[in-house]
Amino acid sequence: MKVLVIGSGGREHALVWKLAQSPRIDEMWCAPGNAGTELEVLPNGRPVRNVPLSAEDLPGLLAFARRESVDFTVVGPDNPLALGVVDLFQEAGLRIWGPNRKAALFEASKSFSQDFMERHGIPTARSGVFQEADAARRFAAELGGRCAVKADGLALGKGVLLAHSVAEADAAIDEILVRNAFGRAGATVVIQELLEGMEISLHALCDGTTARLFPTAQDHKRIFDGDRGPNTGGMGAYSPAPFLSAAELESVGRSILEPWLRGCAAEGIDFRGLLYPGVMLTAAGPKVLEFNARFGDPETQAYLPRIENDLLEVFEACVDGCLERVELRWSPETTVCVVIASEGYPGTVVKGRVIEGLDAAAALPFVKVFHAGTAKSDGKVVANGGRVLGVTAWGPDLTTARARAYEACSRIRFEGMQLRSDIGAKGLNKGQ
Ligand code: AMP
Ligand code: GLY
Repeated sequence: MKVLVIGSGGREHALVWKLAQSPRIDEMWCAPGNAGTELEVLPNGRPVRNVPLSAEDLPGLLAFARRESVDFTVVGPDNPLALGVVDLFQEAGLRIWGPNRKAALFEASKSFSQDFMERHGIPTARSGVFQEADAARRFAAELGGRCAVKADGLALGKGVLLAHSVAEADAAIDEILVRNAFGRAGATVVIQELLEGMEISLHALCDGTTARLFPTAQDHKRIFDGDRGPNTGGMGAYSPAPFLSAAELESVGRSILEPWLRGCAAEGIDFRGLLYPGVMLTAAGPKVLEFNARFGDPETQAYLPRIENDLLEVFEACVDGCLERVELRWSPETTVCVVIASEGYPGTVVKGRVIEGLDAAAALPFVKVFHAGTAKSDGKVVANGGRVLGVTAWGPDLTTARARAYEACSRIRFEGMQLRSDIGAKGLNKGQ
């Protein structure tokens, strides 16, 4: 089969790496890919090739898929999903994995998701949806100012402001609704009560009627150790995150996925892809903070090394509506992914710095270095984005996997690189 993966981040490198292990794939491309995706090699010895097409160039991607007779396309990021890449490919008779435009609304519109959760009894934060600043301020004041103010639309993961007082809430509402900091994406805001507890990532594959829940993972969204500093796309992840027993995970999954599937059926939403609920484990039970309609980044870099199935077969079952017949098989090992970011991230980043030590890190056993914002320049690998690498290691327990990941990180150098030294630490302390 000929397979195309859309995207260029660490998540997409992990998808390419895992898919490239499938003996059924003869040819694979990544559009646009990064310096790591084109290092992967298929079982038949052919290398994966990058295609210089943006993930948002829908007509270009469709033309490429037609020209090369691509049999199956996998979409990594949220933007092309929200733009309707799945609908476009399907209308052209091409097979593609990911939710269609209507189903991708779970991520593309937080107000849609919030209203859906309330309509269908999915546990979530107390919340309101507003277009009008005075009404938003009144609701925030009712919450004592302790709230999350969220731009409705996609805002590069930056559209959420947390407030702990009425003054902070007013400032956040002003920034999003009045000063339009996120443009059209912030013409509507969702305001949620501020929830306290341990935050975890859930992932579930879905074929429209059946959902298959993954083990737990935990991301680290803040830039600095101890969860300090501004939010980022995610500075590291590990799986499993030991805050739920298997029985508790099943029960949490059921409390979210059963009403979600019923709601989708009732509203004619055909979700075939990956649902990623961000969940807070509060004293009053688990509550959904948001839904994403794609794999998490860097959760993917922690999850995929644990999946023992042929990922192509799993994705085909999603598209074909027969996920019921597929059991996901998970390695009992723990994985840890430490993200290495550029100087300046999550603000304006410095690009072009030469990365040393990639081969020395890759030579270690139980380690896979996933590329994210990397590019080739004069034959060298250089930093070309905010998050540059995701260094994943695995082992029989969290302590071992962490030690291996940080040993690999210690072999990698580039000027100004940033990484957190406490990825997985909460799991070691079990949240204490
Ligand atoms: P979101 O993109 O909606 O997941 O929000 C980004 C981050 O803001 C989440 O990962 C949480 O850490 C935090 N957050 C979002 N909503 C809330 C909330 N209601 N209470 C506390 N923290 C929140
Ligand atoms: N791990 C955060 C995200 O993918 O949105």
